[in-house]
Amino acid sequence: MNALIVGSGGREHALAWALRKSPRLERLYAAPGSAGMSALAEPAACDPLDAEALAGVCRERKVSLVVIGPEAPLALGVADGLRERGFSVFGPGRDAARLESSKAHAKDFMARHGLPTARSKVFTAFEEARAALPSFGDSVVVKADGLAAGKGVRVCASHSEAEAALSDFLLEKVHGEAGRKVVLEEKLEGTEATLMAILDGKSCRLLPSSQDHKRLLEGDQGPNTGGMGAVSPAPALTQALLSRIRGEIFDRALEGLRKDGLDYRGVLYAGLMLTREGPKLLEFNVRFGDPETQAVLPLLDADLLELLHSAAEGRLEDAPLRAYEGSSVCVVLASEGYPDQPKTGRPIEGLDAADALVFHAGTKRAGKSWSTAGGRVLGVCAVGPDLGSARRKAYEAAGRIHFEGMHFRKDIGACASCAC
Ligand code: AMP
Ligand code: GLY
Repeated sequence: MNALIVGSGGREHALAWALRKSPRLERLYAAPGSAGMSALAEPAACDPLDAEALAGVCRERKVSLVVIGPEAPLALGVADGLRERGFSVFGPGRDAARLESSKAHAKDFMARHGLPTARSKVFTAFEEARAALPSFGDSVVVKADGLAAGKGVRVCASHSEAEAALSDFLLEKVHGEAGRKVVLEEKLEGTEATLMAILDGKSCRLLPSSQDHKRLLEGDQGPNTGGMGAVSPAPALTQALLSRIRGEIFDRALEGLRKDGLDYRGVLYAGLMLTREGPKLLEFNVRFGDPETQAVLPLLDADLLELLHSAAEGRLEDAPLRAYEGSSVCVVLASEGYPDQPKTGRPIEGLDAADALVFHAGTKRAGKSWSTAGGRVLGVCAVGPDLGSARRKAYEAAGRIHFEGMHFRKDIGACASCAC
């Protein structure tokens, strides 16, 4: 079977690596793909947001399965466009993708279908939102409704911080349309974890759990980023918690999607806070997490092509997914200035010396030389019989890679950062 991955980042590189292991795969393409993953997936020069152009690639190259990586094409309805043209697609349609593209919609979905989450309220007017702050206690979370490249959430320690966030979003419009509406939310305390599931519209299968490290600096300090590293499985997610999350979140979400008339075929990402009252949903994403996917896929003991294809065709098996024993760690190597103004174009050395899986997120190749081309540059991943050995391997490999201004968190998977 031929398959096409839509996207070009570290997550898509990891998907290509895992799909390649399937004996059923013949040719693998990526639109647009990247030089970093070109040994696994042939680049198809094509706008990932253009369903008609992607359908052209599928026709020409006899593609039987399209796997959509990022949220932007999903939010635009690229999956619908491809399905209407007769292709099998792994990724939800535009209406279902609103679970990620509108936080107000996601909160409404959670409330209507009884999914545990933080108390919240939606506002469009600054004065009304400001007047509501005291009802959320001293700490409050301010979220832009729409997609804001991971920068639309501010966890505020005081009302003055929250007012500044409200002013930025609603008055200054720093996120444009995405911040026209805001969600005010009570701040939850606990440990964060991620659980992703593959859905075929009727049932779901849970992937190995994971934990992202969203803050820029060690000890969970500094601004939020797209993710500075991940571990799998999440140290805090016990079997009992997993069963509870399956029942209270995924089963209710499946039922809710069905009641709302949505046929969800793709991955549903639950960002969770494990609070004293139990697991609560922070957010849904409608695609694979990045960098969680880079840590999760090496532990998955299943044929990913078969899994995603069966979900796209609405015939997912009902058995639990198998995972290898042990742990996996992904350390993100970032550029100077990330996340605000990353410096790019810096030569990268030591890629061949790194004894680990190295997924390219933002790189460029000229001949045999590589240089940086984004904020998050590489995801260095290693698997080991336990978290400690996976960490050692990943950090040893990361230490062999160098570019000017390179920085990474040294505490990915360390107990201090995962509160386990
Ligand atoms: P989100 O995009 O909604 O997951 O938010 C990004 C990050 O903000 C999360 O990973 C949390 O670290 C933090 N966050 C979001 N909502 C809350 C909340 N209600 N309480 C505490 N932290 C939150
Ligand atoms: N790692 C968080 C995300 O993919 O949104």
